[in-house]
Amino acid sequence: MRYDFDQVIDRRGSNSLKWADAEDDPDIVIQDLGDMDFKSPQPVIKAIKNRVKHGIYGYAQRPESYYHAIMGWIYQRHGWEIDRDWLIYTPGVLIALAVALRTFSRPGDKIIVQSPVYHLFFNIIRNNGRQVLINPLQMKDNRYVMDFEDLDAKLEDTRTRILLLCSPHNPTGRVWEEDELKKLAHLCLKHNVIIISDEVYSDIIFKGHRHIPIADLDEEISSKTITCISPGKTFNLSGVRASTLIIENPVLRDPFAHGMIDMDLDISNIFDVTAIETAYRRGTEWLDQVLAYLEGNLDFLDSYLKERIQQIKLVRPQGTFLAWLDCQGLEMDVIALRRFMIDKARVRFSDGVIVNPGARGFQRMNFACPRSVLKHVLKNIEMAVEQTYVKNKAAKYTL
Ligand SMILES: Cc1ncc(COP(=O)(O)O)c(C=O)c1O
Repeated sequence: MRYDFDQVIDRRGSNSLKWADAEDDPDIVIQDLGDMDFKSPQPVIKAIKNRVKHGIYGYAQRPESYYHAIMGWIYQRHGWEIDRDWLIYTPGVLIALAVALRTFSRPGDKIIVQSPVYHLFFNIIRNNGRQVLINPLQMKDNRYVMDFEDLDAKLEDTRTRILLLCSPHNPTGRVWEEDELKKLAHLCLKHNVIIISDEVYSDIIFKGHRHIPIADLDEEISSKTITCISPGKTFNLSGVRASTLIIENPVLRDPFAHGMIDMDLDISNIFDVTAIETAYRRGTEWLDQVLAYLEGNLDFLDSYLKERIQQIKLVRPQGTFLAWLDCQGLEMDVIALRRFMIDKARVRFSDGVIVNPGARGFQRMNFACPRSVLKHVLKNIEMAVEQTYVKNKAAKYTL
């Protein structure tokens, strides 16, 4: 079927976390949190409706076909052959990260992240009593790259236990290439550091790029890697709260699985069992169409900024539905930039500073919205920039 992603659906009143603050503010557009403003694939909606009709919602079990649907998806999309035994259900990636941190490190140990990076990585590490060690990404030729020299030094620290990789990378949109992943993995192996690879965006990849699961590079790397995947970003099912960990090595897998059981986190919600299996089996058509639509949004955003808002530059993502906007040309500090976007342009993005402590002048935009909404947001920013610029010019003139 042909999906209509141009349809504007008001999410106010639907208990959406992203739109919660907009309940009493009809003018503001929210583009921060990582879910899409599109309906999920039709077969998933139908399957959930049928399950609702059944009327009995007792404890759920996950049939073998659930796991086979995930294995089939990973092979079909990424060419990675995995065994059924390697898969562990988790009710969300952040929960899985918390359990993994507690299982494989001790309080006070250091966990490496590559910033700017998904802000909740910082929270989950610190809230679980571990220390964040930052290996900053470097900007080269308008794309972010890893600093391996710095990484080597940070891995050498005797308290470093885990490297938390974000692949593809939120918020920079990098889809890491084979040689980058290999270098990173070999450094981790050299220092005996576990890799946790958060691959929640692995299905949102634009033309000309390919996601490579780091654990699929070779057996040695796989033996030190925990991979997290999720249908949340892929099919816009984050509220269903289901994700999967792929761990080949039983020395890592068994303690992690016990950690989940100890906290009673291994039981699925009855609707997630239905939704997830259906999405992985019948979601391809929807995903292919949404990817084409997202790429169209990206092209639109790119040319709009180049032609009409030159103070804001796009660091063009290779994957994810997040645009990392370099707003340094607006010459505003962190608070002024936030207020400018919310009060003048009437849009709320994620503040760059939360994903990159100490940095300023960046905003992260979620562009998984109907194109008309994207146009509206850009027009508002353009007008707000013009007004501010004219005002400033006028102020200078009167001085
Ligand atoms: C890189 C990354 N990991 C994890 C998550 C959260 O995943 P979950 O909702 O499954 O906990 C997000 C959500 O935006 C994310 O961007």
